[in-house]
Amino acid sequence: MALLRIAEIGHPVLREVARALTPEELSTARCQQLIDDLIDTMRDADGAGIAAIQVYQPVRLCVIEVRPNNPRYPEKEPIPLTVLVNPVITKLSDAQITTYEGCLSVPNLRGPVTRSAHIRVAYLDRHGTPVEREVRGIAAVTYQHECDHLDGRLFIDNVTDTSRLTTWTNFQRHHRG
Ligand code: NI
Repeated sequence: MALLRIAEIGHPVLREVARALTPEELSTARCQQLIDDLIDTMRDADGAGIAAIQVYQPVRLCVIEVRPNNPRYPEKEPIPLTVLVNPVITKLSDAQITTYEGCLSVPNLRGPVTRSAHIRVAYLDRHGTPVEREVRGIAAVTYQHECDHLDGRLFIDNVTDTSRLTTWTNFQRHHRG
């Protein structure tokens, strides 16, 4: 198990556009190790997901997992561990959902973001197998947040009402529910 250092807001790597991974690269021991380390780092930090660009590796790779009773996101429905390589998101309806988002690269800040509530995501799994799935609701938010990282975007870019930005403590006191 290896925990990777997480880049924080202000570091230029978080604003890069990550490059696609080739199937050959994906199959290397080095890339498979990066995937394992990303999973370890996400779990250690109680994240709902993490992108490779957040650990200074600007490639189109992210992992998502919400286990029951995640202390940072108790309101999120569980999502099984999912490794996304070169993901592409397509909006499937005009339905939207607004939730308070946070990010391991934006310490101690939450803010409301409105996103598509119904998407299709197409990606390769860690073995290079193409996968397509429809995702709805809060889970769709998590997918969009992680895929934004691959294009150098952070959730705060999507916060339109900055008066509602909040620390974690004040989120629990004043903004939850
Ligand atoms: Ni994030």
